Amino acid sequence: MIFLKTDEEIELMRECCLLISKTLATLAPLVKPGVSTAYLDKIAEEFIRDNGAIPACKGYEGYPNATCMSVNDVVVHGIPYEHVILKDGDILSVDMDTMINGFCGDSAYTFAVGEVAPEVKRLLEVTKQSLFLGIEQAVAGNRIGDVSFAVQNYCEKAGYSVVRDMIGHGLGRDLHEDPDVPNYGRKGQGKILKPGMVICIEPMINIGKYDLAIDEDGWTARAKDHKPSAHYEHCVAIRKGKADILSDFSIIEQTLAKL
Ligand code: MF3
Ligand code: CO
Repeated sequence: MIFLKTDEEIELMRECCLLISKTLATLAPLVKPGVSTAYLDKIAEEFIRDNGAIPACKGYEGYPNATCMSVNDVVVHGIPYEHVILKDGDILSVDMDTMINGFCGDSAYTFAVGEVAPEVKRLLEVTKQSLFLGIEQAVAGNRIGDVSFAVQNYCEKAGYSVVRDMIGHGLGRDLHEDPDVPNYGRKGQGKILKPGMVICIEPMINIGKYDLAIDEDGWTARAKDHKPSAHYEHCVAIRKGKADILSDFSIIEQTLAKL
């Protein structure tokens, strides 16, 4: 069942999402060779709590941390570890959830660590662009399939594969609400988007094949062929005419530009 949100609820969710963007901007200068993903997770958790929010994925279905830190071939849900140390040329997707007064935010950004190979840089650019093409379709009267198709079509034309096993979702009091928001699908299919719906669009795009395998920790989801995977996520409120993006990458990118 899809829960429509009031304007007040959407503003609260915007607060949650902007706090994630600020947290990601705080991490941006620290995403460097030699740093462990556990350290970045600790900084993020402190920042979220210092700003009066709860890191909503900690404890969610037993997930142990405040963030998901997915390096290189890890697609999503990478558990942060002391022994996962970033090195030059890596990519790191940081995905996190916040909760304030019972409502959630959810957003993710993939960082380049030092200098990445040109083909990996292109993966990041295409994945991020596909997110914005999906968002363009996220308006009242369109269908979920319009969003899904926009992402899939762009990424496949660029020669990449679209992950099937993990998808975007509705967001609200719960981290995962209806509707499902796959990154693959057909125009004109699926649920109709209505004002007050809040959805997370999160393309997970692989250079190699889309098949995943889960590590022994039960969470870390990796491309089976061990090729790099990128992930960007925005949370958007559905309106008439134009999607209302609740998270904000410009806060992160302004910080990155100054480094
Ligand atoms: N933001 C993640 C998602 O949308 C959820 C992280 S919490 C976890 O899938 F417990 F599922 F890892
Ligand atoms: Co999500």
